[in-house]
Amino acid sequence: MCGIIAYTGRRQAAKVLYDGLTRLEYRGYDSAGIAVLNGWRLDCIKRAGRVCAIADARALAGTCGIGHTRWATHGGAEDKNAHPHVCGKFAVAHNGIIENYAALKAELSDMGHSFSSDTDSETVAHLLAASYRGDLLDAVGRTVGKLRGSFALCILCTDFPDAVVCVRQKSPLILGRAADGVLAASDVPALGGCGEICVLADSRIALLTPAGAELYSFSLARLPCVFAPNTLRASVCDKGGYAHFMRKEIEEEGAAVVRTAASFDEGAARRLCADGFSRVFLVGCGTAYHSALTGARLLEEGLRVPVRAELASEFCCRRPLLDRCSLVLAVSQSGETADTLAAGRLAKKYGARLAALTNAGHSSLSRLADHCFLTGAGVEVGVAATKTYAAQLAFFYAFYAFLRGQKAAYLQKFAAAHRKLLSREGEIRPLAAKLTGAQGVYFIGRGADHPSALEGSLKLREVSYLPGAGYAAGELKHGSIALMDGNTAVVAVATQKELKEKMKTSISEVRARGAFVVAVTPFDDIPADQVLSLPACPQRYYPLLTQVPLQLLAYHAAVCRGLDPDRPRHLAKSVTVE
Ligand code: M6R
Repeated sequence: MCGIIAYTGRRQAAKVLYDGLTRLEYRGYDSAGIAVLNGWRLDCIKRAGRVCAIADARALAGTCGIGHTRWATHGGAEDKNAHPHVCGKFAVAHNGIIENYAALKAELSDMGHSFSSDTDSETVAHLLAASYRGDLLDAVGRTVGKLRGSFALCILCTDFPDAVVCVRQKSPLILGRAADGVLAASDVPALGGCGEICVLADSRIALLTPAGAELYSFSLARLPCVFAPNTLRASVCDKGGYAHFMRKEIEEEGAAVVRTAASFDEGAARRLCADGFSRVFLVGCGTAYHSALTGARLLEEGLRVPVRAELASEFCCRRPLLDRCSLVLAVSQSGETADTLAAGRLAKKYGARLAALTNAGHSSLSRLADHCFLTGAGVEVGVAATKTYAAQLAFFYAFYAFLRGQKAAYLQKFAAAHRKLLSREGEIRPLAAKLTGAQGVYFIGRGADHPSALEGSLKLREVSYLPGAGYAAGELKHGSIALMDGNTAVVAVATQKELKEKMKTSISEVRARGAFVVAVTPFDDIPADQVLSLPACPQRYYPLLTQVPLQLLAYHAAVCRGLDPDRPRHLAKSVTVE
């Protein structure tokens, strides 16, 4: 989490940095700040709140600077905890976690340093000041040698008015070369104007000056710095006439699914399967975990070996049965989720093969994995995963079809069904408004509908803050049915023919306790208070259809409550801390 950016060149830095921060805001929006070198002087404006809270920073003069947008880990969302942190001649913007910050802070305090924030990051500025003997790179080298944890850093020093030093260790950082200067940022959209980019590897230091970039190892050995063309268009952050990115991105799902199916890499799938394995783990977090649950069902049927989906954060809390015959497929739209990366590293440590399914080909995960599959969703800006979920499901359907020696023909037809579902938005809007009056909204499903129920619930909670949960419908009677009364609403996903009667029973049970029931179903005999009907499709593909009305329900519930679905509180798009 957190987004960092640096610029040095011929333009006024503050404007470039501010623009970049608005494109990185999805990574955290608790506070923002910009520091600019104006000759030997350092000017810094930083405040709690979104990037627009520092709009006045655009007026800062100077052609070299750094910026930060924060997702709070250590210390609240207050002005004092906003980055950049300044100590003496140094200003630092940090993304990641300095795990040994408490020990470092104690050491520095003993040396007479006093701290003005509650953050782990401020220790880096103090360490730099304490290590500096007139040689900037030497001070950086000595500082990073003392840091434990994950860190991407952008560093200014008033003795070097046109230089920025950038560091990468386990948190993403990408360099960009533009006609007027050099940038570094946590993600490519902030480098939209750059014709070329260079994704930094771990344990790298980059010295940026208007003349270009120099690359060093942590022991300050000079390394080649190779740039490649930046293929991402600058316009990707456009809402395209929609009120929110989330709504625009739901609209883009048809195309995302078709692109993902069309670009399914059969060669890579063949090479992966040729390795042979006796068990498979799919790991991911949040929405990626939910797509992994569907993926596990499909792959187990296709591969005929045990396939389990696991939460990446839990995978690392036990000693999974991993060996050379295991395959771990890590699912992550960003490819930067710390828990998923940790699960991937664990897999490699025990000799398992690691494959990745991600939407970001330049991500840490894609570089860590032995095999990388890409979804064709395009950049997703809204914090809620929508089109990337659809694209992950499409990948699993394509993989399943490949394993069966078939083509996933329905994926080509999905766009038409998707349009049909979107045309029912008029029905969903008032229903969403009704759900906002409930004290709890619970999602239930059985079998293939269970992951859809979990995902529908996550989406609603995430953007509308309505309390609730997703349950396996059969589990309700083992405890959670106690929650049901006249103030609760239940969204029942019922798409599987052989489970229909059991779902009808679960629905009757919650209605008998007074709950208002919405059924999401292709069947016309489900005993609900309201039905959101799904068009007919091959049964296996219903999870792909189901998520469309569920996402719209969440979106409209958020809008109805006056919330911004693109920037839910306490969240960030890319969760780069464990
Ligand atoms: O980038 P990732 O797919 O690894 O992200 C995982 C989760 O943080 C993410 O899916 C999160 O749950 C979404 N905000 C849900 O909409």
